[in-house]
Amino acid sequence: MEDKVRQIETEGLQAISSAQNLAALENARIKYLGKKSEFTGLLRSLGTIDPEERPKVGALINEVKTKLEQSLCHKKIVLLQSEQSKKIEEEKIDVSFPGKGIKRGRMHPITQVMNEAKDIFLGLGYEIAEGPDIETEYYNFDGLNIPPDHPSRDMWSTLFVADDVLLRTHTSPVQIRVMKKRKAPLAIIAPGRVYRRDSDATHSPVFHQLEGFLVDKKVTFGDLKGTLTEFLRQMFGEDKKVRFRPSFFPFTEPSAEVDVECMMCKGKGCRLCKGTGWLEILGSGMIDPNVFTAVGYDPEKVSGFAFGMGIERIAMLKYGIDNIRLFFENDLRFLEQF
Ligand code: DAH
Repeated sequence: MEDKVRQIETEGLQAISSAQNLAALENARIKYLGKKSEFTGLLRSLGTIDPEERPKVGALINEVKTKLEQSLCHKKIVLLQSEQSKKIEEEKIDVSFPGKGIKRGRMHPITQVMNEAKDIFLGLGYEIAEGPDIETEYYNFDGLNIPPDHPSRDMWSTLFVADDVLLRTHTSPVQIRVMKKRKAPLAIIAPGRVYRRDSDATHSPVFHQLEGFLVDKKVTFGDLKGTLTEFLRQMFGEDKKVRFRPSFFPFTEPSAEVDVECMMCKGKGCRLCKGTGWLEILGSGMIDPNVFTAVGYDPEKVSGFAFGMGIERIAMLKYGIDNIRLFFENDLRFLEQF
């Protein structure tokens, strides 16, 4: 019996010391000290041996049991420590590792160009006014000297919401709204969305315009030319030539369209400017006396100029974009270039 106990001691200590992890150690404990182990069996059979031998064998069994338990305990601490340090090593954070980049949003190119145009006029002392997208015929047409049966209404492909209610075809109705409410002198810009029944590579049913007008005593065509030339130089570059060309709008007399030297060919003539060397940027003119009368101003006492421009068109020319839909499809590969 003593030999058996010694053999269990040797094997048990060996198994404990060679355990590679906590699971293997637990297996060794069950095998050598567990309830169903050979060792526990020997302990139970103590009663059956010779009473003379019993104290000696009993002491030996206790001694071996203590040794095995101590060895188990010691090994457990060693394994726990090594498992913990392994875990720490694995979970270590490298604080010098570069972080994930945070994606930055940006202004839509149309917003950017609109803001640029607004800033130029704010710098010239203009203030911003707004009007509704849904208008009545009066503000969109009649008040602007465009009577119901007049062919000049054909200049705008209007989207009607109901009889007498329409989506404004231009920002010019803001002129009427502001002048009806306020007295001259006025220097106003009106940015906003406008709508037309129009859709191709350069036309969208919804687009943006910036309207502007100035009313005071003795405002001249020279003031119009000076103001718009300054605006176009700031917008397209000091070196660009600007030209005023006679035109017609019902709400201005005389009227002029304003062209800028083509930025692609520098005036030589190319596909963008259709060989003319010029790009048409905006419409303008001296406010028609009929418009002043409609808002209750005396055309003998005040004069003024007005202008309107399409923001998408300016953005397309500035950045050489040939399809207006790119602005509204929200393809990040396009938008991220601005
Ligand atoms: N409202 C015109 C359009 O949408 C643009 C315009 C032309 C506005 C001349 C004006 C102006 O104020 O004087 O086609």
